Amino acid sequence: MRRPIVAGNWKMNTLRGEAEELVLAIRDLAAAAPIEVVICPPNVWLDLVSRSLEGSGMKVGAQDAYWKEQGAFTGEVAVSQLVGMCEYVIVGHSERRRLFGDTHEIVARKLVACMDAGLIPILAVGEDAGEHAAGRTEEVVRRQVGAALVGAAQGPLVAAYEPVWAIGSGEAASPEHAQWVATIVRDALENAGFEPQSVPVLYGGSVTPGNFAGFVAQPDIDGGLIGGASLDAQQFATLVEQASAAAY
Ligand code: 13P
Repeated sequence: MRRPIVAGNWKMNTLRGEAEELVLAIRDLAAAAPIEVVICPPNVWLDLVSRSLEGSGMKVGAQDAYWKEQGAFTGEVAVSQLVGMCEYVIVGHSERRRLFGDTHEIVARKLVACMDAGLIPILAVGEDAGEHAAGRTEEVVRRQVGAALVGAAQGPLVAAYEPVWAIGSGEAASPEHAQWVATIVRDALENAGFEPQSVPVLYGGSVTPGNFAGFVAQPDIDGGLIGGASLDAQQFATLVEQASAAAY
């Protein structure tokens, strides 16, 4: 059985004191959960968050990483530098693709670098509003999954379906749409040589305690990648509870 995962992507939010307060509040509320709970803070708080979570069973993820081993890449953080501070790394988030120029090839290199270093990539995929309206969701998601896994050997992997139009918009996808795309993700994983039933598939995009139960009730959705609601300890803990209740 796939282990359910609820991951919080804090994005570029929290000052040091806020990060410390938030992670401790989440730890108090969610550490006993029977599922995998992952906190993805800004890189500058990775050490703080990983120390705060020591012994809790909760996991830490980075929001991105550069694929080169080391060198003259001002402002970047190498995968190898994250080893020991986190277990997961988000790759291919639509904000990276859209705002920072992460191409299919760059996403694939980052994914392979993470796997080679023993970190688990959380591969984010999803269509934008125009592609959604044009009925191109399946084509876009298949291409993103296939391209990201070029050169990847079988290894621990998490996939996240995050429709771009649903991120931060307050307009989540329907659970049925997300379930359908999750089956497409699994099919694309299989085409890329992965054992699709062993890869958790998460949904992300305007998840709240009011809509999450509908997603985790779907057979192919194993949890969530949470933005805004992960910045509120109580809301995030409620999502962890909902995913736990759906699974056990
Ligand atoms: P929101 O939950 O704020 O829509 O963000 C989702 C997301 O992008 C998580 O990676």
